[in-house]
Amino acid sequence: MATRKIGVIGGGFVGSTTAQRFAEKELGDVVLFDIVEGMPQGKALDLAQAAPVCGYETGVYGTNDYADLKDAELVVITAGMPRKPGMDRSDLLKVNGEIQQKVVSGIMEVAPDATLVVVSNPLDVMCYVAHQVSGLPSNKVVGMAGVLDTARYRAFIAMELGCSPKDIQAMVLGGHGDSMVPLTSTASVSGIPVQQLIAPDRLQELVDRTRHGGAEIVKLLKTGSAYYAPSAAAVAMAESILLDQKRVLPSCALLSGEYGIDDTWVGVPVVLGANGVEKILEVDLSDADREALHASASAVNEGQQEIAGMLSLA
Ligand code: NAI
Ligand code: 2OP
Repeated sequence: MATRKIGVIGGGFVGSTTAQRFAEKELGDVVLFDIVEGMPQGKALDLAQAAPVCGYETGVYGTNDYADLKDAELVVITAGMPRKPGMDRSDLLKVNGEIQQKVVSGIMEVAPDATLVVVSNPLDVMCYVAHQVSGLPSNKVVGMAGVLDTARYRAFIAMELGCSPKDIQAMVLGGHGDSMVPLTSTASVSGIPVQQLIAPDRLQELVDRTRHGGAEIVKLLKTGSAYYAPSAAAVAMAESILLDQKRVLPSCALLSGEYGIDDTWVGVPVVLGANGVEKILEVDLSDADREALHASASAVNEGQQEIAGMLSLA
């Protein structure tokens, strides 16, 4: 049986579906933590009862006690408030910043070597908080947004072309917000540039839909936000780290000069392996994309400064 321990903080929609995906992939025993008493225990018991039917042998445990995360190898952090209709991600800054601070301190007390995969919004700024509070080297903290935003972009291109989403390759860079940068020049279907198959105006519409992909779902759901694709994205990143797959995935990482950006957490292509963010890949960007990436990074940097003041982070 698996002995590796994986933590999931927050037993809400994203956290519980993340725990389910981990269990089904048998990547290790899963500990689901939430502050609501009974809820993570109930969801873990439900997942344990699904095991005989689904055929997994993973242990799934629910808890309100950080001690149960002792020596976790990797922790996915989904604790926080989801966005409500009409609410911008930055509205969540203070409330989720405080939650992130508490949660990361709690994890570090019992699992100081854990790699942190941050999901809570506003994502890029929460990565900054997790890094500052944990004191971990920056390669051990990584944020999930680019895999999700890229998945949305790929899904929209596949719908447009009426082809399999598996055959679409694309990349979305930048912060997880309206300023994200879906690249058009590198998007392809089985190696064929999509610019040869989709007219520029229509491709721009797909780019815009991607930028507002989260809000589109919030509007439809009326309460809460997306969780199937977000949990799939978080688990893909975690799997690459836990199994040292060294996948190239767009992820939120600390930039220290790459792309001409400093001291800012922003989405770029990275290699994810046993050492977390093992490499940041710098690719040539058009002048417009580079400018858009810088604008996105500036918005994140403002958020970092704002939260640093609010939470007295150095
Ligand atoms: P949810 O409301 O269903 O779950 C959040 C959970 O966090 C709740 O169960 C709550 O009790 C728990 N929580 C609150 N404070 C806590 C604390 N101090 N310690 C432990 N648990 C605590 O929300 P959902 O839909 O699961 O979303 C979670 C977060 O993920 C939100 O911030 C949301 O905006 C974000 N998100 C980010 C995405 C991304 O691409 N990075 C995609 C989807 C969601
Ligand atoms: C999303 O993009 C809410 O950030 C979340 O679905």
